[in-house]
Amino acid sequence: MIVSLAPMEGLTGYVFRRVHAQCFGSLDRYYTPFLPPPRVGKQFGGKAFKELDPEHNHGLNVVPQLMSKNADEFVGATQVLAHMGYREVNLNLGCPSGTVVGKGKGSGFLRNLDELEAFLQDVCSRSALPVSVKTRVGFEDDAEYEEILNLYCRCPLAELVVHPRVRSDYYKGAPRQWLYGETLARAPFPVAYNGDIFSVEDADALMASYPQTRHVMIGRGLLANPALARMMQGGPAATVTELQRFHDALYRAYEAEIGGNAVFRMKEWWFYAKCAFADPLAVHRLIRKTRKASEYEAAAERVFREEGLAAVARFHG
Ligand SMILES: Cc1cc2nc3c(=O)[nH]c(=O)nc-3n(C[C@H](O)[C@H](O)[C@H](O)COP(=O)(O)O)c2cc1C
Repeated sequence: MIVSLAPMEGLTGYVFRRVHAQCFGSLDRYYTPFLPPPRVGKQFGGKAFKELDPEHNHGLNVVPQLMSKNADEFVGATQVLAHMGYREVNLNLGCPSGTVVGKGKGSGFLRNLDELEAFLQDVCSRSALPVSVKTRVGFEDDAEYEEILNLYCRCPLAELVVHPRVRSDYYKGAPRQWLYGETLARAPFPVAYNGDIFSVEDADALMASYPQTRHVMIGRGLLANPALARMMQGGPAATVTELQRFHDALYRAYEAEIGGNAVFRMKEWWFYAKCAFADPLAVHRLIRKTRKASEYEAAAERVFREEGLAAVARFHG
């Protein structure tokens, strides 16, 4: 089975995936957090270029994710990405953020199916790379998915990654896994599952219900338990020494990339990583008030020295 890392803006960028791969072994595939395509004829610049720079992704199988509703810019971006050596591009049709939806992008594109179909047919025919899609199953109501799935089935997609929530769920409530099952049964292209795989048991239950599953994408589960992919392949849970080594490497790598903002970035990571400990609230209290690098470093060191690990590291919100 393919296990991939979900795109998560601010969390699973090139620094994270490189350090995670060094400490816990590579996943089969990584998706970049969403990137805006450059203007037609231009290259990716700034933050997006850093994310895509082959130097930063050496040895990892990375799929760039784009967020756009401009077909010419999307196609132009695929040409740039093909030159950089990428072999697939992913379109974000799931982002629930108000700003994104307000512009008709991300899950907001699911409200305008005529425009979405014209866009997909156009970009699939002109793209320099195979086009995969990461989607939610509707905007307000999962009844919308019938029409959305029919639309996807008419397009030559490389793969469809299904996060079976609607936009108004954001990340709450149980994923509607039966709509993933419906997709597996009907789609003429490969299908992947994403949503709330937080433990080996969750992955096993998915496989038991949908034995045709060939690709599982994991996000929050791997942030809370960096050994999750390894455990899904029969490997051991993370030890406290491994976790501390991973933490230290991640912090140093962020420091090298973004200097003083590394503390802020690590605090976002701790929102998930605290779930690896028996008392996540105690971990949160130790980390949250730190501002200066020296305070942060002392607090993190104390967490690893004093806080015991949870029996099972599992994301729980
Ligand atoms: C903070 C945050 C940032 C995210 N950024 C992206 C993104 O850039 N692109 C995307 O397709 N999904 C994004 N997602 C959604 C995740 O990729 C994934 O679909 C979601 O977390 C459900 O999977 P999980 O339960 O395995 O975490 C984001 C989610 C969160 C919580």
